[in-house]
Amino acid sequence: MTIEQLPTQGELRKLVGLVDHDDSVDPFPVLGWDALIWVVGNATQTAHFLQSAFGMRLEAYSGPETGNRDHKSFVLRSGAARFVIKGAVDPDSPLISHHDRHGDGIVDIALEVPDVDRCVAWAREHGARVEVEPHDETDEFGTVRSAALGIYGDTRHTLVDRSRYDGPYLPGYIVRESVLQPRPGRPKRLFQAIDHVVGNVELGRMDEWVEFYRRVMGFTNMAEFVGDDIATDYSALMSKVVANGNHRVKFPLNEPAVAKKRSQIDEYLDFYRGPGVQHIALATNDILATVDAMRLEGVEFLTAPDAYYEDPELRERIGHVRVPVEELQSRAILVDRDEDGYLLQIFTKPIGDRPTVFFELIERHGSLGFGKGNFKALFEAIEREQEARGNL
Ligand SMILES: [Fe+2]
Repeated sequence: MTIEQLPTQGELRKLVGLVDHDDSVDPFPVLGWDALIWVVGNATQTAHFLQSAFGMRLEAYSGPETGNRDHKSFVLRSGAARFVIKGAVDPDSPLISHHDRHGDGIVDIALEVPDVDRCVAWAREHGARVEVEPHDETDEFGTVRSAALGIYGDTRHTLVDRSRYDGPYLPGYIVRESVLQPRPGRPKRLFQAIDHVVGNVELGRMDEWVEFYRRVMGFTNMAEFVGDDIATDYSALMSKVVANGNHRVKFPLNEPAVAKKRSQIDEYLDFYRGPGVQHIALATNDILATVDAMRLEGVEFLTAPDAYYEDPELRERIGHVRVPVEELQSRAILVDRDEDGYLLQIFTKPIGDRPTVFFELIERHGSLGFGKGNFKALFEAIEREQEARGNL
């Protein structure tokens, strides 16, 4: 069994911008991301796509061959990031109705916590909806304790303590390795960690969810706070960011804002049939190589106009970055700088059939932000796509 090497704490600090934090005074300590759990229409093919195009490696599996007659579930990893991809096998599986409503998407942002019971007790006391009570699951590899809290829409946070577990994922899963071999010369992995996961919520609900994360989970508002200034001529949105103590887990939350035309958030809410996860930002230490490798596999990214790179104000603002601007321009990689440093980022087109979930790639160089300076250029690019879909 090949064990996927985890980034060290030092590497993570640089990759996702960690800050110091004392867990002992935290009422709801969170160690990090446990997994992003997806429900899709065809898990077999989505798992293949994430291996071929995103360079993830299969490490565990559950399905009819292991006694799970309801669905197939593929556990994929890249560095510290774990995705679990589920698709119904049984035509009466509850996953069918979820997929019927939402299309491909994330059902569960599972978080690793050191003490499930303490977190659930605090969350319940502060108004959370406990969807699954704390319980143990055991097999020959040990015991996992978990519980789940409901969040926006049909999304939840499963809280997982796997400190007494040594198996490939959860009880019921078996070790399974990728059959697919990476193209020769491709970087060993295309991303190393999850940086942030963005939720889209309904108009007027953003502050409610910011408050939920603050009150129920002890998260704090991050310095990057964006008011109603994220607007193009046509569409607009509001966004605020909450993070756990050490910023390992960051949740930007968007709501649509009123503008001349339909916001990209409205489009999402229509096609996802309610609030849900909009995008997942993947941290890479070499965004150029990652983008090149993904393009070679057919991943489509949003474009940026040449004017973006030729804008003297932008050139002045971004100053010196690790590669010539032309290298970024030829790949449509965006750059933003703040008082702490800079970041490079790029966004894929939606990865499924509905205009809902997409990915971001992010390479941080000190900046703890989310690319606020790029929002206008980015939204204009999204609107070009939205227009082409007839949804603007
Ligand atoms: Fe993002």
